[in-house]
Amino acid sequence: MAPNSIPARREGRGGEKRMRAINEHTITDAATEQMASTPNPRLRQIMDSLVRHLHAFAREVDLTPEEWLEGIRFLTAVGQKCTAHRQEFILLSDTLGMSALTNALHDKRASGAATKSSLLGPFYRQDAPMMKLGDSIISRTKGTEVVFYGRVIDSNGRGIPNALVQVWEPDESGNYDLQNHDPSVMDLRGCFRADAEGRYHFRGVCPTGYMIPMDGPVGDMIRAQKRHGYRPAHIHFVIGAPGYRELVTALYVSGDSHIDSDTVFGVDESLIVSLNKVDRGSPLPHLASIHYDFQLSTAERQMSGRVGADPSQIVSKVAEKGA
Ligand code: BEZ
Ligand code: FE
Repeated sequence: MAPNSIPARREGRGGEKRMRAINEHTITDAATEQMASTPNPRLRQIMDSLVRHLHAFAREVDLTPEEWLEGIRFLTAVGQKCTAHRQEFILLSDTLGMSALTNALHDKRASGAATKSSLLGPFYRQDAPMMKLGDSIISRTKGTEVVFYGRVIDSNGRGIPNALVQVWEPDESGNYDLQNHDPSVMDLRGCFRADAEGRYHFRGVCPTGYMIPMDGPVGDMIRAQKRHGYRPAHIHFVIGAPGYRELVTALYVSGDSHIDSDTVFGVDESLIVSLNKVDRGSPLPHLASIHYDFQLSTAERQMSGRVGADPSQIVSKVAEKGA
């Protein structure tokens, strides 16, 4: 029997039950066996694997109590930084590559051809205003207007009528409205309904690169690792339609100096677009344009592709559970 698979109780010489010794070799089985009573099979599988990998990590680095306490302090600080408008845990997931990995696994489960996912990030809001095709999402910011246009299509290239296109982007200094204003102010975000052929177009500013929020524990981690902390210029999209898998993605502008070293690993080559100064196919040819067709696969079951959420929704769900 392997040293880490000793049964919980063994017979002593006199037939009495002896306790299993808890040590570096037996603790993993002891913990997973105790959790084997979990009725929900998926929760059981996830927790079993999580504990085994967590223990393997501690063994691999020969973790000291001091180091583990430092880790607990760090995670406590991450939680304490979270508010209805700030989600430091999503930022941690993003900077550890966990959000990009979860997105990649999600994309692999698609039933047909689809645009790749990219990070939702910590600045998504559910309540962005509904606008008409062609409207501008710029309300407060000053900046050079760009038109974003294209189609929302299915895996066979057919337009998806009335698809809902949600967009948000930072201003030309690289800040989102949530960072600049009180949270009641919306700027550079909006929702659009594609037309009967799945076409969309709207006006915004030319996307800008920026540094992720560095004033919290995740920023401390990034500095300790001597990483630059930048995201390349991008604009975010969440696109959905009944019967299709919701697509959470972003478009990245070619030529950005951080395109190959995104701090949160969101860039895929298929999501890189160019800013066109002249574009005769554009619905607003007097403006520079960014053109992209988004492809949605059909949904086998209604499942969200969001790694993250509007921070205020996370806070209210936690409060509901605590009530
Ligand atoms: C964003 O693109 O909004 C973002 C994503 C991850 C971390 C920080 C910002
Ligand atoms: Fe962003």
